[in-house]
Amino acid sequence: MTSLVTTVTETLRYRGAIGQWSWVLHRISGLGVVLFLVLHVIDTSWAVFYPAEYVRAIAEYQSPLFTIGEFALVAAVVYHAFNGLRIIIFDARPNLWKYQGQAAWAVLIGTVVLLVPVFLLMLGHVLKFYNSGRAILPLGEVLAGQVRFIVGIAVAVIAAMLLSGLIGLVQGGTTGATRQRGSKLERFWWAFMRGSGLIIIPLVFGHLAIMHIIQGVFDIQFTEAAAEAGIFAAGAVGQGANVTGTAVEFVADRWNTLVAGVAVWRVYDFALLILVVIHGFNGLRYVFTDYAGNAFVKRALVYLTIIGAVVLLVVGGAALLQSVDQTAIEEAQRAYEALLQSLR
Ligand code: HEM
Ligand code: HEM
Repeated sequence: MTSLVTTVTETLRYRGAIGQWSWVLHRISGLGVVLFLVLHVIDTSWAVFYPAEYVRAIAEYQSPLFTIGEFALVAAVVYHAFNGLRIIIFDARPNLWKYQGQAAWAVLIGTVVLLVPVFLLMLGHVLKFYNSGRAILPLGEVLAGQVRFIVGIAVAVIAAMLLSGLIGLVQGGTTGATRQRGSKLERFWWAFMRGSGLIIIPLVFGHLAIMHIIQGVFDIQFTEAAAEAGIFAAGAVGQGANVTGTAVEFVADRWNTLVAGVAVWRVYDFALLILVVIHGFNGLRYVFTDYAGNAFVKRALVYLTIIGAVVLLVVGGAALLQSVDQTAIEEAQRAYEALLQSLR
């Protein structure tokens, strides 16, 4: 904790060159995306396991609070990706180090240049949605919906502390051999962070382009086709055009799309899930261990990152292996209708 306070105060006091600030921004953007990922993978799994809850989660995403968060998320992903690319290139080419300053500025300028048109496109979807006069969840309900995530994180923290205490009792001190194994492992993680970062760039940019620019988070639950058909057109569900206008049918249509017999979006989401979860939680471990004061806290924080990653991989992976059927879509349809009624 003391070292965290020192980092914050020293970062503010130290008038470092842009390199200092790009390190801070890289860290904050990475942490922000990890936090979003926790909510996102858990609630995406509800499309399969609790369809009515998924409808509600997407309604929460469409509230003003999450809309602001969505812009911040896209900015964080773009900055982190460009800056990550800078780190990867400079690590591989030490002869370029004299251009560090210029490269950090190029990342910042490149981020702004890309974000201007992207934000304008996103704003178009936002305004269309808010001008359509459709019901929006009140802030209180949106915040109440997040309580279960806070409880879940608290449970994971307690489990990590218990595990750390137990292992501390059993293990005692660290031996030279384990330290050597540790440094080999760290070399693997160093390479993994760079390799995974490179593959994540096209995957996450493609995912965001589909979810934000081409159609927008608001169309996940409501499409023009659905509007023309009448939102609740009976008997026409699951035919590939999100006829029910529900978030669950949106996911079902994508996950059930087959190209040459392969469920391409499931494969895509699987690759995205594995890479971003492992990269993100290992990054979280770097940040945590930088600030951990003693061995007990350090171990607990490392276990917390392992628990987080395992939970997301299991929950997200299990959802991707399940079918999203007609019953789920109909349950979502009823939940969506009830939600709209309650907001009238
Ligand atoms: C607010 C922005 C985002 C929206 C609206 C969104 C939307 C969605 C939707 C609808 C799905 C369901 C499956 C599908 O249709 O492909 C999904 C799955 C997924 N998304 Fe996103 N996404 C967003 C941002 C992100 C970001 C930034 C990441 C990575 C850091 C990410 C990672 C994933 C993963 C890993 C899955 C698969 C989850 C699973 O296994 O159950 N998403 N996303
Ligand atoms: C879009 C492509 C991405 C690239 C090119 C990239 C690249 C990198 C690189 C090169 C590092 C430094 C690793 C090291 O210090 O050894 C890093 C750290 C990190 N990344 Fe990413 N990353 C990407 C996506 C993501 C995503 C989607 C998340 C969240 C789920 C994330 C979270 C983190 C975190 C938390 C750190 C640790 C930051 C720190 O130590 O200060 N990254 N990333």
